[in-house]
Amino acid sequence: MSGAAKREYKNGFVRWVEYRLPIFSAADAIVGRDYPSPKNLNYLWNLGSILGLALVIQIITGIFLAFYYIPTAEQAFNSVEHIMRNVNNGWLLRYVHANGASLFFAAVYIHMIRAHYYGSYKAPRELLWLIGLAIFALMMATAFMGYVLPWGQMSFWAATVITNLFTAIPLIGDSVTIWLWGGFSVDTPTLQRFYSLHYLFPFIIAGLVMMHIWALHTHGSSNPLGIEVKGPQDTIPFHPYYTAKDLVGFGVFLLILAFFVFYQPVYFSHPDQFKPADPLVTPPNIVPEWYFLPFYAILRSIPDKLLGVVGFVSSILVLFFLPYLDTSKVRSAKYRPVFRQFFFIFLADVVILGFVGANPPEGAWLVIGRLASAYYFIHFLVILPLVGWFERTKPLPESISTPVLGDAGGGAAKPEPAE
Ligand code: HEM
Repeated sequence: MSGAAKREYKNGFVRWVEYRLPIFSAADAIVGRDYPSPKNLNYLWNLGSILGLALVIQIITGIFLAFYYIPTAEQAFNSVEHIMRNVNNGWLLRYVHANGASLFFAAVYIHMIRAHYYGSYKAPRELLWLIGLAIFALMMATAFMGYVLPWGQMSFWAATVITNLFTAIPLIGDSVTIWLWGGFSVDTPTLQRFYSLHYLFPFIIAGLVMMHIWALHTHGSSNPLGIEVKGPQDTIPFHPYYTAKDLVGFGVFLLILAFFVFYQPVYFSHPDQFKPADPLVTPPNIVPEWYFLPFYAILRSIPDKLLGVVGFVSSILVLFFLPYLDTSKVRSAKYRPVFRQFFFIFLADVVILGFVGANPPEGAWLVIGRLASAYYFIHFLVILPLVGWFERTKPLPESISTPVLGDAGGGAAKPEPAE
């Protein structure tokens, strides 16, 4: 830990509060302003703070949208149109919230892929990864329910398709689904419970994020070399070095968000979302938002409904076992030549699954979807354990400073360029 609890506060008001309620030292202990960070973190380590920013943006814009949104089947679509046309800057709030959700997922995927490439989830950071996955699961639920709220055609049919999956549960499936719906079909009661939970979950996510950061600061960040910090020569204080670098990340994220909001605001939307929900007209191809497509492809690649759901749930559950399935003692892919090849094949597989999810499950797409789904599981359950056992890894540098300073860094390993 940072040892920040002993900090002397200069500000009189802060000292006054701290003496009565040591909230600042508690925050310092978790957030860790003085947190000694590895000095070789690359830009992929910016994604964590970007995700924090994205969460705050979603919560603030969401609260303002909630002033005007009406969660009933009759009024939901029109209330969103009212926000877009009549409410001052309502269009801006809505476009930031909707595009913000897409970029939030883009950022979380890069964050997770970074963790896989650099083996960030390995001991002692397994719990950090598991808390991250809990956040991810809640993000998926939140985004799914949020997509239903505007009550467009795709909202209604996505809600119908996904809630119908619960009917696949043996014996109690039908009762569970009716209980979820709050009636005998997706309707106002369903919309109202989705709205309630869509508002609640981001705050649970915020609580989990604090635990995530707490776990992170307990053992410190990993780094691109995947070796532990050996002493003060390997670290720099988080502030001002990484606060400044994180601000650069914020700038890039906000620029990308602004590009979509102002130039391509409906780029991620489906045309059917511009039509009000119609329970009597089923769209020819019901597709979720892009960030669900790989999982949706796995769901549809199995012909049996129950097994499809099992495949879909397992595709997320398997991630919880990743710290144990990846058996290599070496963390970073930089020193794992064989793993690195499989890592990129896996990435390609997920992209292929994304394309499969966007297309109707027939013909070649069905075959490709089945192969790609099978490979997804093979990667985790077969390739990772085997590669971990048999791979000949490259020699690790003595310390983080060694590759830069050579022998001057006190290490015996050959100098090697830093990431
Ligand atoms: C709202 C969502 C999230 C927020 C705000 C968040 C925040 C952060 C922050 C600030 C860091 C430190 C900076 C960095 O390493 O990038 C971090 C690290 C990490 N996060 Fe997340 N995170 C989120 C979601 C996730 C998810 C979904 C996962 C994985 C399933 C995850 C896994 C990790 C891991 C393994 C690290 C340690 C990286 C290392 O030190 O090598 N996080 N997170």
